[in-house]
Amino acid sequence: MKRIISSLLLLTLAFGSVACSNNSESESVNSELSQSTAVSSSSATSKTESSSDKSTESVPTPSETANIGEFDFERKTVMLNSGYEMPIMGLGTYSLSDEECYNSVTALLESGGRLIDTAYMYGNEAAVGRAIRDSDVPREDIFVITKIYPGEQFQNPEKAIQDALDKLDIGYIDMMLLHHPGENDVKAYLAMEKFVADGKIHSLGLSNFYIEELEEFLPQVNITPALVQNEIHPYYQEQAVVPYIQNLGIVVQGWYPFGGRGHTSELLGDETLNEIANAHKVTAAQVILRWNLQRGVVVIPGSSNPDHIRENLDIFGFELSDSEMEKIAELNRDEKHDWY
Ligand SMILES: NC(=O)c1ccc[n+]([C@@H]2O[C@H](COP(=O)([O-])OP(=O)(O)OC[C@H]3O[C@@H](n4cnc5c(N)ncnc54)[C@H](OP(=O)(O)O)[C@@H]3O)[C@@H](O)[C@H]2O)c1
Repeated sequence: MKRIISSLLLLTLAFGSVACSNNSESESVNSELSQSTAVSSSSATSKTESSSDKSTESVPTPSETANIGEFDFERKTVMLNSGYEMPIMGLGTYSLSDEECYNSVTALLESGGRLIDTAYMYGNEAAVGRAIRDSDVPREDIFVITKIYPGEQFQNPEKAIQDALDKLDIGYIDMMLLHHPGENDVKAYLAMEKFVADGKIHSLGLSNFYIEELEEFLPQVNITPALVQNEIHPYYQEQAVVPYIQNLGIVVQGWYPFGGRGHTSELLGDETLNEIANAHKVTAAQVILRWNLQRGVVVIPGSSNPDHIRENLDIFGFELSDSEMEKIAELNRDEKHDWY
């Protein structure tokens, strides 16, 4: 059934265009992307009517015509091809210790953020789960992404997935990604598909997959990934890869938005970014995040500082002009900061 829905959605995607509504305006993020079936949702992370879950039907919905891949700047969400709605601005937890992670997730949730990215390799899935269970925010309003890793985890994917469910202990996982391509990646993905069928995972995705890897991988699986998470920042923009992925009806999410630790001072001190920031009375960090959103890229900046977490969420009160977007596009150096 899921496969049929996925195929139908992809088919529909081939014949339309997705628009990105930015505040009151509508702007086209990716005109080749297509319009899909009208969907409705009740919460930031709810499923649409395309699923068998009809519990949301009677709830009034602010967005009756949300399209796959469309960024809704009022709801601060995007509709995924899995039928779930995902926040477009969140928190990354790479390198955060257990306590830092708990405090950061708590600060995010208290400040209105609802999207959290973790991974087996970060060693902090349990802290993410604890912070979520301790918060007053309803579980269904929160969207948690975690990842399994090549090697032992791809070799025994059912165990790896169950471990993540147990560590998080939040009932279900909103999205699970393969951390990067590797031996047994198809096997691991097919195992994740089974957990989707059981309702234990809602959406699937990939990380560190580029055009060649996607061309090889996608024909071997049943559920089209809802998301690809890759390194993206002003010095490494993936100008060809981002539209390629978006044209498949797959949402793109960027890691290392500030270049990653060891590179943040150069990026946040960049002259062009600071000129643009000054013009809008915001920070260079906010300009980078907003630039991502305006090209249809979801952001998950990492931080253990509650002030930074609040600042990073505050990116909906200004808009970059076309010429500012072009100036940032010119900063691209194809300079990758990690090996994946
Ligand atoms: N799939 C993958 O292969 C992969 C790889 C790497 C990362 N990721 C994900 O992507 C997320 C983001 O990457 P990242 O955390 O490594 O790097 P990042 O977001 O590029 O940078 C994080 C650094 O930026 C600083 N920072 C955050 N907000 C700031 C602000 N408003 N002003 C000034 N400094 C600020 C943080 O310091 P403070 O703590 O002081 O705020 C931290 O040192 C990760 O946390 C992880 O979830 C995925």
